[in-house]
Amino acid sequence: MSVVGFDFGNESCIVAVARQRGIDVVLNDESKRETPAIVCFGEKQRFIGTAGAASSTMNPKNSISQIKRLIGRQFSDPELQRDLKSLPFNVTEGPDGYPLIHARYLGEMRTFTPTQILGMVLLNLKSIAEKNLNAAVVDCCIGIPVYFTDLQRRAVLDAATIAGLHPLRLIHETTATALAYGIYKTDLPENDQLNVAFVDIGHASMQVCIAGFKKGQLTILAHSFDRSLGGRDFDEVLFQHFAAKFKEEYKIDVLQNARASIRLRTACEKLKKILSANPEAPLNIECLMDEKDVRGFIKREEFEQISAPILQRVKRPLEKALADAGLAVENVHMVEVVGSASRVPAMLKILTEFFGKEPRRTMNASECVARGCALECAILSPTFKVREFQVNESFPFPVSLSWKGSGPDSQAGGAEQQQLVFPKGNPIPSIKAVTFHKSSTFTVDVQYSDVSDLQAPPKISTYTIGPFPTIRSERPKLKVKVRLNLHGIVSIESATVSC
Ligand SMILES: Nc1ncnc2c1ncn2[C@@H]1O[C@H](COP(=O)(O)OP(=O)(O)OP(=O)(O)O)[C@@H](O)[C@H]1O
Ligand SMILES: [Mg+2]
Repeated sequence: MSVVGFDFGNESCIVAVARQRGIDVVLNDESKRETPAIVCFGEKQRFIGTAGAASSTMNPKNSISQIKRLIGRQFSDPELQRDLKSLPFNVTEGPDGYPLIHARYLGEMRTFTPTQILGMVLLNLKSIAEKNLNAAVVDCCIGIPVYFTDLQRRAVLDAATIAGLHPLRLIHETTATALAYGIYKTDLPENDQLNVAFVDIGHASMQVCIAGFKKGQLTILAHSFDRSLGGRDFDEVLFQHFAAKFKEEYKIDVLQNARASIRLRTACEKLKKILSANPEAPLNIECLMDEKDVRGFIKREEFEQISAPILQRVKRPLEKALADAGLAVENVHMVEVVGSASRVPAMLKILTEFFGKEPRRTMNASECVARGCALECAILSPTFKVREFQVNESFPFPVSLSWKGSGPDSQAGGAEQQQLVFPKGNPIPSIKAVTFHKSSTFTVDVQYSDVSDLQAPPKISTYTIGPFPTIRSERPKLKVKVRLNLHGIVSIESATVSC
């Protein structure tokens, strides 16, 4: 049995393995701790991870990245449509309404689903773990964003199956971080609760979770997020800024040239990182377009001014998390920031102002998710001994059953009815029973009761229940069991007739 944790990020992935003496982040073939989440299709072979990233500038149209944004989403999803605008590869709508990625591979055009591409990325991560452990890797834990829908969670499981992996759990990234934070802490209180806010700012999204710690356990008090607020938004702001500047100064329109756009975006990302450590930074690119060398320069102050629309959005998920946890800001004892985009100083300023205290960086900002995943895998694995630590996870979306009829005991037909099964914040895993009185086969929809946060179609799945025996002319009592499993996936597990 393997005990491995995978953090598959929108930009980069980390593999952590559990050993008897602790958790190790392992190196890939190129001796790097981070492996880019990219698959680059070539004429003779495909390159995945670090090798994929190296070939991507030469072959942008066949370099597939940002899979986390595409997986389990309908092609018509407005957020997906926005994301597609900045991706260099071609994506069309498949016959099932889901995206199909086009790439030239082994001399011919092929199409791939995002699930297939994620399968390739996971296969690469699996082989990194296997080389390091010198053993087969099947059992694992995979980190996922808290905002992933049922469909996205199922797609990750499918991709894991393609890669020959068996996830014991898909764990929310911020919960994995909280676990990695708490499990080794020896000073957790017996009775009072230590409330810690974890803020993860990644490549494309921001997630917040407030966890209450006591000796031997953590309880998630709230999850919140902004699905489209991350490091890449700063790159885009800088990109637009310099594209406009160069148009004026050098009379070149970078937006009209795919390769120049990629080169400018890459340079802007570097510039952003320099600005995290320095008050000003230069930008020089040779032969960007029309054989013109370009030169630019920006101060951190100006960067923050042009990033104001992004920075303004940071507070909302923080407020939401506090409100959902039912805590006043003074009751949050500590703030931990993780995710590499949290290195932008303006972000820290906002967090400090909001919480009234300096956020800490106790955790390794890029590795904590993978470590938490490996720890969770160790907790779930029967072969591994870890310190007793309980994770009380909460599910961020309310889920209900809906059916036609006037109540669970009605005949078919009539108005649409709904019953809340798992309220927001319901513990994971969980099982609930709903009793129906029905005389013939009927259908039940499992759906999100509130999609305002999710911006996804409310319906999760439909179940047809029946046929079942009717005893005399009475309507039998049907007990329908609904399960919210460890992965945060909801399903109707069984329906039993009792008289
Ligand atoms: N020193 C730095 N200053 C500012 N931004 C940085 C710095 N280092 C990395 N970043 C940015 O952090 C982002 C990547 O963060 P991270 O690796 O946490 O994301 P990810 O886990 O791949 O994505 P996600 O969590 O959204 O799926 C990139 O946008 C990168 O440019
Ligand atoms: Mg991340």
